[in-house]
Amino acid sequence: MAIHKVMVIGAGQMGAGIAQVCAQSGYEVVLNDLSEEALDKGLKGIERQLARSVEKERMTEKEKTEVLGRLNTSRQRSDAESCDLIIEAVVENMEVKTKVFADLDEIAPEHAILASNTSSLPITEIAAATKRPDQVIGMHFMNPVPVMKLVEIIRGLQTSDETFKAIEDMTVQLSKTPVEVQDFPGFVSNRILMPMINEAIYAVYEGIASPEDIDTVMKLGTNHPMGPLTLADFIGLDTCLYIMEVLHDGFGDSKYRPCPLLRKYVKAGWLGRKSGRGFYQYE
Ligand code: CAA
Ligand code: NAD
Repeated sequence: MAIHKVMVIGAGQMGAGIAQVCAQSGYEVVLNDLSEEALDKGLKGIERQLARSVEKERMTEKEKTEVLGRLNTSRQRSDAESCDLIIEAVVENMEVKTKVFADLDEIAPEHAILASNTSSLPITEIAAATKRPDQVIGMHFMNPVPVMKLVEIIRGLQTSDETFKAIEDMTVQLSKTPVEVQDFPGFVSNRILMPMINEAIYAVYEGIASPEDIDTVMKLGTNHPMGPLTLADFIGLDTCLYIMEVLHDGFGDSKYRPCPLLRKYVKAGWLGRKSGRGFYQYE
């Protein structure tokens, strides 16, 4: 199945990055969000990244203009009617995502694939909100999208081989490495990463060491590019909490219980970098 035009729903840190790499790889892109402010912020971020690439001579000014020419923003979900692929990157909440997918199922053309960038939610359940579960799939990009090479491709129970192949081919077209994963909570990446982050938060909660020292141990002691608490702030503490809840509910195992300190921070609105405060403070 040929994919030419892509809609990305949600212009937050993931959606903007996904829109950028799609436009850079030659796809026509519509970046959609409910909020005008999010669209402005997303587009400005993309322009900044592209300007940096020109500065570093990885791209010419002409190529930058062409990439931006392929990228439009929209607050109308109805623009999905002209797209071959819709990639959803809204908040990590099943109710919100199933509502988006049910709407898209009505709007998108019959041949269109509906993909979710969910970090952990069951693709099978998201697909059940549509009448085309064979054309629903997980396309899990990593943050920051322009830099990270992996895309986990998650097969829901009813995802067809044709849908899988189209998304696998597109992932390669985006210069990323696809890995096929079955539909279980947290997939592979977050089943392994999030319990480590949650454990680091327990270490703060229990007063074992300061956030700075915990991050230093993991950076210098195990060669992680970012310490787990810096990474949690980077991902978003709300997203980390949602993922831990999905693991906890999905497996029913107490080893996945979210740390009370994580809940407290999220309740306080300390969501990490995007809100200006998490385990660290940002200007
Ligand atoms: N967007 C685009 N590019 C970015 C970026 C961003 N947000 N942040 C950094 N970069 C680019 C920089 O432009 C730079 O590129 P050039 O050198 O070519 O200009 C390059 O990345 C390196 O950046 P820096 O030198 O500023 O900093 P760094 O060496 O510390 O690298 C990092 C930054 C790539 C983010 C690195 O710290 C890292 O790999 N961190 C871990 C990221 C990670 O684990 N991501 C997965 C999160 S989990 C997830 O995504 C799944 C989920 O569902 C939650
Ligand atoms: P974010 O909070 O930065 O952005 C979410 C955006 O979605 C916001 O701009 C919001 O206005 C918009 N939105 C919310 N409801 C909407 C709707 N109904 N229609 C259109 N737009 C809507 O979140 P994020 O970090 O970009 O995460 C988005 C998704 O990607 C989540 O499912 C998350 O789990 C997943 N994800 C996140 C990361 C990460 O590191 N943050 C990594 C991989 C996957």
